[in-house]
Amino acid sequence: MANNWELGRFLDTLRFFQTLPFVGTLEPLRPVLAPLLPDLFKPPAYRGSGLVVVMGATGRTGQAVVKTLLAQGYAVRAGVRDRAKAESVLPKAPFLDIVVADVTQPLPADLLQGSRAVINCVGAKVQPNPNAPPPGLEIVGASPEAVEFEGMRHLLACAQPYFQNQPNTYPLFDYRYPTPPLKEVWGALDDVVMGGVSASQFYLKDHSALFTGLVSTENSGGFVSIRTRNLTPPLNLQGYTGIQLRVRGDGQRYKFFLRSDPAWDGVGYAISFDTVADQWITVELPFSHFIPVFRARTATNAPPLNVGQIYSLQLMLSKFEYDGALNPHFRPGTLSLEIESIQAYGGLPLPRVIQVSSAGVTRPQQADLDLKGQPLAVQYNDQLGGILTWKLAAENMLRQSGLPYTIVRPCGLTDQPGGKELRLDQGDRLTGSLSREDLAAFLASLLNLPVACYRTVEVVATDQAAEAYPNWAARLAQLPSDCLDRP
Ligand SMILES: NC(=O)c1ccc[n+]([C@@H]2O[C@H](COP(=O)([O-])OP(=O)(O)OC[C@H]3O[C@@H](n4cnc5c(N)ncnc54)[C@H](OP(=O)(O)O)[C@@H]3O)[C@@H](O)[C@H]2O)c1
Repeated sequence: MANNWELGRFLDTLRFFQTLPFVGTLEPLRPVLAPLLPDLFKPPAYRGSGLVVVMGATGRTGQAVVKTLLAQGYAVRAGVRDRAKAESVLPKAPFLDIVVADVTQPLPADLLQGSRAVINCVGAKVQPNPNAPPPGLEIVGASPEAVEFEGMRHLLACAQPYFQNQPNTYPLFDYRYPTPPLKEVWGALDDVVMGGVSASQFYLKDHSALFTGLVSTENSGGFVSIRTRNLTPPLNLQGYTGIQLRVRGDGQRYKFFLRSDPAWDGVGYAISFDTVADQWITVELPFSHFIPVFRARTATNAPPLNVGQIYSLQLMLSKFEYDGALNPHFRPGTLSLEIESIQAYGGLPLPRVIQVSSAGVTRPQQADLDLKGQPLAVQYNDQLGGILTWKLAAENMLRQSGLPYTIVRPCGLTDQPGGKELRLDQGDRLTGSLSREDLAAFLASLLNLPVACYRTVEVVATDQAAEAYPNWAARLAQLPSDCLDRP
């Protein structure tokens, strides 16, 4: 049977995980290989999952947010006023659906159904008019009161039933929305790496993913698995209790691994769980029950799992439990583990309503403010229908809603390409600008940051180039929360 072993699959596995036998990682060869095979070192696009509703999706910021979210693995529901405009300006993507909703009117009750969060990019329309009194700008369409303030009231009425008092879970892989980046990050890692002949596959279905294949004990083999490439940046699951899986299996016992070390062949932290044939079950795997394992042996001297830095996840079906004991619920042959979701559970809330407000919202109230050098919206707030005053009123309504929120106050927005380091601040003093592309990337990052909750943050671009993976969590933690009784 040894001749069933497939060199091709062995090499595919090494390439996918960017690893070499004995050496461990291809990293030392990056200078030589990267120019020849640039895709080899491209980090996975995956940054998150689940359905996010974007309001004002046809606006300039809204479009940038939709594009960013889709590229990172999220499914998007676009809330728009004009379907024809949405169809012409938004990308054609299978995980983008469009809902027509004018925020000046009560919103469709199911607008947020199934979503994990809403990013609100709606704003009253301001446009140049040379015939208008200085500064030659006018509000077109509904007033700022109707768009900003009544719009927030309607959005919150819609959000309360879905987002109030929900369990605090962090959707790591939500396969109810099986977008391509959620598959591409996972690869098969079977006993072929040790000479075995088992073979697994990982498929996306309509509303789930399927780990399937054939496990064989020939050639001293007996395991199949799927593992993520190293996540960039690693996941921070601090504050959560464990991992919750929603799965439909085949009655066998599987293992779930986490790794807090980027090394290919380092210690993994494992836990076993039983499935019930053909039944959907929810399995909770507390971090405190994971055991350190190195090549199926318990690693008694290993440090504890660092949940603040999770580099990879793995699901495995193996003939063995740990230290040579046999898996009591293992049978060679076909396997089937359907996955609806992998989440962290029992933690702090994540933002549910992310509001794009504006720098300057408190300035019209400042009697002693020198208007010179202030943005036009501050100088001409009254002529522009009190646009900043109504934005501030909308912020206050959101703060009082009891929902987990983040309020972002950008400085002047441009359509320049992104890539600039952002400065975060509070106190409403910032002036300057930032690109909508950078704002969109920042807004998307907030979705997975519990520390972003109950915070108001002002943003402006600096002239420095952005870091590849800014540590927003650490930077947000330095800014006080809006509510003294919240973390
Ligand atoms: N522009 C700046 O320099 C600046 C600076 C700081 C903060 N902001 C704020 O940042 C946000 C995004 O700005 P932006 O410049 O990207 O705005 P934008 O291009 O003007 O987009 C505004 C969006 O709001 C939508 N909208 C307006 N009234 C609506 C209604 N009644 N119902 C539903 N949707 C409605 C528009 O729909 P349509 O696409 O159908 O028109 C559009 O999609 C706004 O809140 C803005 O006030 C902007």
